[in-house]
Parts: sequence; structure tokens; C-alpha cells
Amino acid sequence: MSEASSGRFITLEGGEGAGKSTQIARLKAWLEARGRRVLATREPGGSPGAEMIRKLLVEGPIERWDGNTEALLHFAARRDHLRSTIWPALKRGEWVLSDRFADSTLAYQGYGHGLDPAIFSQLSRIAMQDFRPHLTLILDLPIDLGLSRAAKRRSLETRYESLPRDFHARVRTGFLEIAAREPERCVVIDATSDVDAVAAAIAGAVGERLGS
Ligand SMILES: Nc1ncnc2c1ncn2[C@@H]1O[C@H](COP(=O)(O)OP(=O)(O)O)[C@@H](O)[C@H]1O
Ligand SMILES: [Mg+2]
Repeated sequence: MSEASSGRFITLEGGEGAGKSTQIARLKAWLEARGRRVLATREPGGSPGAEMIRKLLVEGPIERWDGNTEALLHFAARRDHLRSTIWPALKRGEWVLSDRFADSTLAYQGYGHGLDPAIFSQLSRIAMQDFRPHLTLILDLPIDLGLSRAAKRRSLETRYESLPRDFHARVRTGFLEIAAREPERCVVIDATSDVDAVAAAIAGAVGERLGS
């Protein structure tokens, strides 16, 4: 399998408007300044096939898919992303940073839409065997702050944003429970402060957990 490599795989997770896309660019620059070769990617998407699936997931009306269908689409996209993009880059020794990964499926489809955790585990096994990120940074902030930040972006990709408040509250709880269950892999980052302060907290966590 695919994991044997000298690279490192870091995922950024969190709700809408938490600052994942902003911070991934900052972390990439920080690592490159330390001589790392870095590939920044995102989910859903990150490979030509997975980007096609992304459109089905992030655009259009909420009721177009139920939780199980969404989970299948996310894991289909994820497997293509792993095979086409992530695993080859890790083999080349690169540090791969992904804007969302499997924890988002558990938080959104599991905690948000009620997908059975056992089904999540089965799909994880099919799509990625026992491959896991070396480090996951969970950007946490109150949902109203995140949604108001997200609303200021101009984007067609509003399908998940438009879900009700209580859905986003369950997603936030989900991410925090994942972090509590897997403290060796996950670090919760306070995402309420300004961009520079969040970037410093992320750099600190990466340096401490993985070296830089
Ligand atoms: N720490 C921050 N403080 C204030 N605004 C922020 C912060 N981080 C990001 N933003 C802004 O909030 C919006 C959402 O950020 P983004 O990085 O797109 O979040 P995400 O990718 O997690 O949805 C963007 O307009 C971004 O410029
Ligand atoms: Mg984003």
C-alpha cells in the first residue's frame, strides 16, 4: 500500500468560514520557507475525477442527496484523490496539506445527517484501508461567526452553508468529539482570532507534532 513514504499528510478541518482555505495557504508558505516541498489540495476534489464529483456535492439544492448518498460520493472522490494526488505526492517525499478530509465526512454526514458511524468506518476501509493523516488541525469557532464569515465570500458553492443552524451545531460538536477521541492525531485550534494569530497557532502545532 500506498503510505510508505517520507512525506507528511496534514489535514485542516472545521466548519464553514473557519479559515481553512486561508490558513492552508499560510501553512504552505511557512513550510516552504523551511525547505519543505508542499502540495496543497482540497476535498471534495483534489484530482480531475474528484473535482467532477465535487460539483455534484457543493452545488445545487440541499435535498438533492441524502446522507448515505453524500457519504458514498465523498468517499468515491476521496479514493480518486488519494490514488491520483495524495499517495503519489507522499511517495515523492512531499508534505501534503488537505483542506478537509475524512473527518469532514464523519462530521457532516455522520453527526450532521445521522449517517451510521459503522457505515462511515466501512466506507473508510474501502476507500483508504488504514491510511490516516499524520496530523489534523481542527479550526474551531462559534457557528454564527463562521457562517457570517462564509457569507461574505462570493461563491456558488453554498449547498452545505445553506443547511440550518442546528446542522452546523452538530458538525461543530462532531469535530470536537473526533479531536477528543484521537488526541495523538488531532489538535484543536481556536479560529476566532485574527489570521496571523491563527497561523501562528497552526505553525506552533505543526512544529511541535511533526517538527518543521
Ligand atoms: N481569522 C480570521 N478572521 C477574520 N476573517 C477571516 C479569518 N480567517 C478567514 N477569514 C475570512 O473569512 C472568510 C472565510 O475564510 P475561509 O478561509 O474561506 O474559510 P473556510 O475555508 O474554512 O470556509 C474569508 O473571507 C476569509 O478572508
Ligand atoms: Mg474553504
